[in-house]
Amino acid sequence: MSFVIDSDLKASFGRVAVIYGGNSSERAVSLKSGAAVLAGLQRAGVEAFGIDLYGESADLEPLRQLQEEAFDRAFLILHGPGGEDGTLQGALEMLGKPYTGSGVAASAIGMDKLRTKQLWLGAGLPTPPFAVCGQHESLDEVITRLGTPIIVKPAHEGSSIGMSKVRSRAELADALTTAESFDRTVIAERWMSGDEYTVAVLDGKALSPILLVTNHEFYDFDAKYVANDTEYRFDHGLSAEKDKALRDLAEKAFAAVGCAGWGRVDVMQDEHGEFQLLEVNTAPGMTDHSLVPMAAKQQGISFEQLVVEILKTAH
Ligand SMILES: Nc1ncnc2c1ncn2[C@@H]1O[C@H](COP(=O)(O)OP(=O)(O)OP(=O)(O)O)[C@@H](O)[C@H]1O
Ligand SMILES: [Mg+2]
Repeated sequence: MSFVIDSDLKASFGRVAVIYGGNSSERAVSLKSGAAVLAGLQRAGVEAFGIDLYGESADLEPLRQLQEEAFDRAFLILHGPGGEDGTLQGALEMLGKPYTGSGVAASAIGMDKLRTKQLWLGAGLPTPPFAVCGQHESLDEVITRLGTPIIVKPAHEGSSIGMSKVRSRAELADALTTAESFDRTVIAERWMSGDEYTVAVLDGKALSPILLVTNHEFYDFDAKYVANDTEYRFDHGLSAEKDKALRDLAEKAFAAVGCAGWGRVDVMQDEHGEFQLLEVNTAPGMTDHSLVPMAAKQQGISFEQLVVEILKTAH
């Protein structure tokens, strides 16, 4: 039986705008997420329609577009700067429209890997040792302190865009040039040699952790969206105790940033098997191949139920 909401819930949601697209480098992913969310909400009986911010057919600039559309709440599914970073959230606050996901401050912090890590450290949560390239330390000092390999990443991107693994001092310059072409803030992080997990969080509670297995050097853009041999495992081999520790850590990491509604926390194990927090995604992918729907499904929550549960948390 497919999942359909009752008339009271439908009335309480009113007319729902699924806002997607945007103009970040993750626009293409957002178009897919947005289409999936819109279809899921409609299948569940929600009166939903789509708004493609910065879309080719949009004849209005984004703020006017939001002002002119009639809607009662918004499901935000833009990825990256301009949509996931607090700016759109701020516009909706000013328009007085409830929206899904984190508020202005948590969205802005979550989009910034450097400030997220600083905040986690301040909250006593584990994250890999790192350096801000071009600040305080010379590149030689960075290599000496972090050791090799390291990973170099733009602070505000997603989908592994602009990231490289650096095995030696000689490889650092090219990695920096790549990352700097996307962002003026670039971080270098100690390479985590252990397993990688992602933990979806729904209304503050962790869903089943997923072990990500790729034969690429790391979970890069190709492994995320192109390769068909990337494995997503729920039989992750962690003891019950470790599984609980991972879920607890994800919930704490989500709460520490002040996130709300839903999101996804990326975690790796270091060489000692300790969990280390990589980042939090405040508007993660929602295509039918994405990780949050996968984790929900594992717990018996269908895609339609998931989008409705997320919509309920709009504030
Ligand atoms: N310190 C690290 N050590 C080893 N691998 C890492 C490290 N940091 C990141 N990676 C690899 O790079 C991938 C992308 O990193 P991260 O999650 O920080 O960025 P992202 O591009 O914003 O991801 P998303 O698409 O989830 O938003 C990770 O999934 C992981 O495979
Ligand atoms: Mg990630």
